[in-house]
Amino acid sequence: MRMVPKLMALRSACILYESLSGNTAQLSMFIHQILEYDGAHVKRMPLQSFLDLSIADAEEVIQQYESLFIGTYTDDAHLPPEPVEELMETYAFPDKQIAAFGTGDTQWGETYCLAAHTVAKHYQSPYPVLEIEQMPARSDEKKIDNWLEAIDNEQTHGKSSDYGPGKSGAVHRHY
Ligand SMILES: Cc1cc2nc3c(=O)[nH]c(=O)nc-3n(C[C@H](O)[C@H](O)[C@H](O)COP(=O)(O)O)c2cc1C
Repeated sequence: MRMVPKLMALRSACILYESLSGNTAQLSMFIHQILEYDGAHVKRMPLQSFLDLSIADAEEVIQQYESLFIGTYTDDAHLPPEPVEELMETYAFPDKQIAAFGTGDTQWGETYCLAAHTVAKHYQSPYPVLEIEQMPARSDEKKIDNWLEAIDNEQTHGKSSDYGPGKSGAVHRHY
């Protein structure tokens, strides 16, 4: 964990995540921790809990946050899991700054973390997509940190500064 808070624009965020075996849930927790450390107002919930809300209640939750982070694994059809499809079909989130993150397995080659990219494309996210291989570790923190800083930079200055793939190449823009 870095010693000095850095994020300027990312003041409030809702994190929705879909996770089957826990990897994406763990990643959402790391993102949550870093944002909170920087003093942001953060809510994190499993996607299904969000979808179980009435549309009115869901909108009431979302309207409290400027940014929306959506996390997903990629499933066996290389597509977003069903709840993620449902989210995209149901909610447009026109006023939100949306960023996508995902966990995947590089053994799947070109479809590595494809679902997270599908989410980013669907919501026309201007931000890079965070890709983490399987279960995130503390050693991934720098990569997550860089990703959040790139989003923060984009929100502050309208650009992603010198952000690029990390050492392991785990973060890419695919579009
Ligand atoms: C049948 C199957 C198919 C998968 N297909 C892909 C894939 O196309 N791309 C990818 O990046 N990962 C793929 N994965 C790996 C998962 O996305 C990865 O393990 C992910 O971290 C699981 O997240 P979770 O623990 O949050 O459920 C696949 C896994 C399984 C079991």
